[in-house]
Amino acid sequence: PTIHIITPTYSRPVQKAELTRLANTFLHVANLHWILVEDSQRRTPLVTRLLRETGLNYTHLNVETPRNYKLRGDTRDPRIPRGTMQRNLALRWLRETFNINSSQAGIVYFADDDNTYSLELFEEMRSTRKVSVWPVAFVGGLRYESPKVNAAGKVYGWKTVFDPHRPFAIDMAGFAINLRLILFKPQAYFKLRGVKGGYQESSLLRELVTLNDLEPKAANCTKILVWHTRTEKPVLVNEGKKGFTDPNVEI
Ligand code: UGA
Ligand code: MN
Repeated sequence: PTIHIITPTYSRPVQKAELTRLANTFLHVANLHWILVEDSQRRTPLVTRLLRETGLNYTHLNVETPRNYKLRGDTRDPRIPRGTMQRNLALRWLRETFNINSSQAGIVYFADDDNTYSLELFEEMRSTRKVSVWPVAFVGGLRYESPKVNAAGKVYGWKTVFDPHRPFAIDMAGFAINLRLILFKPQAYFKLRGVKGGYQESSLLRELVTLNDLEPKAANCTKILVWHTRTEKPVLVNEGKKGFTDPNVEI
């Protein structure tokens, strides 16, 4: 199957570095299709060039998150869903592009632009029949969060401290979905309004599967194959108000 990777991204000093690192990972993965969705009014020249130069198979989309959804000030406020409209646009694109009846085997994975992905992860998700799940490091105030898997290899809950009673207490990086299921449930999207922190993933997954359907990967969820890393904001104080370095040099 083709792995369709959905990545929301937005303009900031580290964007090109993040996307370069991500592209370098994806170049090692066979049958990969990158759906990169910019949170912007237009597709930017920086991202357009970068995608073209990677040689990856990609689709470049854009949709700007309306201002009232973004919080001025603390950009890490969990109440504000980041990348949600972008992921939903990519889901719509998949439904408009692929037909249920055409046997285009595919897997859908949401890969934020700042996380760290092992190559093994992509091989694990390839066999996803409905929804597969695995642990994610550095989320929820823990070394890692994980689905709870019983001796029979069934997921029966969530090894998390933060609200373990969420229907799907799992980070965006912790699951993959078979494309057929996305096409079969055309109304399933991430909810934009009234979603409490940590419930974004549940808002989509509960439309697609029940706990019983989940397929644990990564050696029954005992291996860490993805890290929810976050990139430090670079200190640019010496640029001053007018800017010290040549603004024509792309970073
Ligand atoms: C956590 C989760 O891991 C995200 O999947 C989830 O979207 C996010 O919280 C949330 O619910 O707000 P976190 O590291 O806090 O992730 O979020 P970011 O990495 O800053 O953003 C997630 C994705 O959205 C990234 O790919 C980022 O480039 C993109 N993004 C962020 C936008 O497209 N627009 C923005 O204004 C901010
Ligand atoms: Mn992140």
